[in-house]
Amino acid sequence: LLLLCGGGVAAVTWLLTSGGVDTVGKVAFDRPLKIPPLAESTVDADGTRVFDLTAGPGDSDLGHGASTRTWGYNGAYLGPTLRAQKSQKVKVNVHNRLNEPTTVHWHGMHLPAKVDGGPHHPIPVGGDYQAAWTVDQPAATLWYHPHPSDLTERQVYRGLAGMFLIDENEENEEDLPHEYGVDDIPVIVQDKNFDGGQLSMSDRFLSDVGILGDEILVNGTPGPFLDVRTSLVRLRLLNASTARVYDFTMSDGRPMQLVGTDGGLLEAPYATSSVRLSVGERAEVVVALRPGERVELRTAPTGLGRFQGGRDAFDVLQLRAGGQITQKTLPPTLTSIEKLDPSQAAQRRTFTFQGREINDDRMDMDRVDAVVVKDTVEVWSVANGHGTPHSFHIHDVQFQVLSVDGRKPEFRSWKDTLFLEPRKRYEIIARFADYADPTTAYMFHCHVLRHEDEGMMGQFVVVEKAGDKPNIRHG
Ligand code: C2O
Ligand code: CU
Repeated sequence: LLLLCGGGVAAVTWLLTSGGVDTVGKVAFDRPLKIPPLAESTVDADGTRVFDLTAGPGDSDLGHGASTRTWGYNGAYLGPTLRAQKSQKVKVNVHNRLNEPTTVHWHGMHLPAKVDGGPHHPIPVGGDYQAAWTVDQPAATLWYHPHPSDLTERQVYRGLAGMFLIDENEENEEDLPHEYGVDDIPVIVQDKNFDGGQLSMSDRFLSDVGILGDEILVNGTPGPFLDVRTSLVRLRLLNASTARVYDFTMSDGRPMQLVGTDGGLLEAPYATSSVRLSVGERAEVVVALRPGERVELRTAPTGLGRFQGGRDAFDVLQLRAGGQITQKTLPPTLTSIEKLDPSQAAQRRTFTFQGREINDDRMDMDRVDAVVVKDTVEVWSVANGHGTPHSFHIHDVQFQVLSVDGRKPEFRSWKDTLFLEPRKRYEIIARFADYADPTTAYMFHCHVLRHEDEGMMGQFVVVEKAGDKPNIRHG
């Protein structure tokens, strides 16, 4: 969820002057930001766009001199950006060239459970897998990452992740900065540890949330800068860390125009000086620049203390505007968002996240935690019952937040992942449209990847009509 806060800059200044543990001001910004390449694709006779992804090891320079062993898709670290149009058929051929099983999950995508890439469908070492579906949702910044049983944290940490952009080509979307890598920039933010120059998986902060790093990579680039040639630049922020929460701000406190959340554009730009993203969440922001200036994207203290390893404030990305920049303006409206109505809810459910359990249960591949009837709307009340931060992610659907501790959010937006602050309760609403399959479960879980691996996950099955029974099968 987005924390709306004008005090971010003051807090950063306080940390700098009080000797708090942070890295702001220490990064050199001397490397050009890497832009993940757009994935190559072919188009089948029936119009299906076909992609190939090979997960495998490689060697990367992550800023510590010698190269270090990493994992990536079609390369040494991260993966290419997949891009498809709304209503387009897509097919992805996935090859596992790792030394352990993996899956690829299409985070935020509305699609049949069979091709969702969850833990029921592992791709064995050396194996291949094919996922095909029709894109049927608004323009959005989605992503893909592994989702095997027990191994997700380490696989994502080593570098397996990438973006999946959906385009709709509506007029207002065209009015936003939309030239990939030029004024429309993927910003994949991750924290890492290094030991003797090598990427380290040590859990040295004992934070209860798994691995936390003290260095930031953006698209795999340490200390990155970006040359900008337009007065507006769109940053597609993705928190692809394993545990860390970021409060993104600009170094001089200037407002960012929030234009999109996980599942698509907002109805209108929303000016804010701070955007909070927990693991798996995305935000699209547009930043305005004057000719010749430099300004940094940073993170400000979250107040989450030891759950962030005591390190909160990081330099992220320096924007360098050219002397001559093309003037652009932001459209006043972006899209319209259907208002889901809680009085239409066919079912209400309550889920409490506590320890590593959801409603006192850990993941069981044979237990179905919720049976949902296709094309119905449900209201879920999701609470964090204790002091450790968690996050709530649900597969297949995009939801709207109805309330946070009883208070309504300031604007409507599509979300698939929600930060669960300690001891807060959230009400969300979603429509489970289109795909019923009694034999295959979708997941909902904590997106802190250590927690997910330790079983903080449940399963739901969508059935055709009320009374139908699920009958899930593996493989
Ligand atoms: Cu981003 Cu179930 O995952
Ligand atoms: Cu958790």
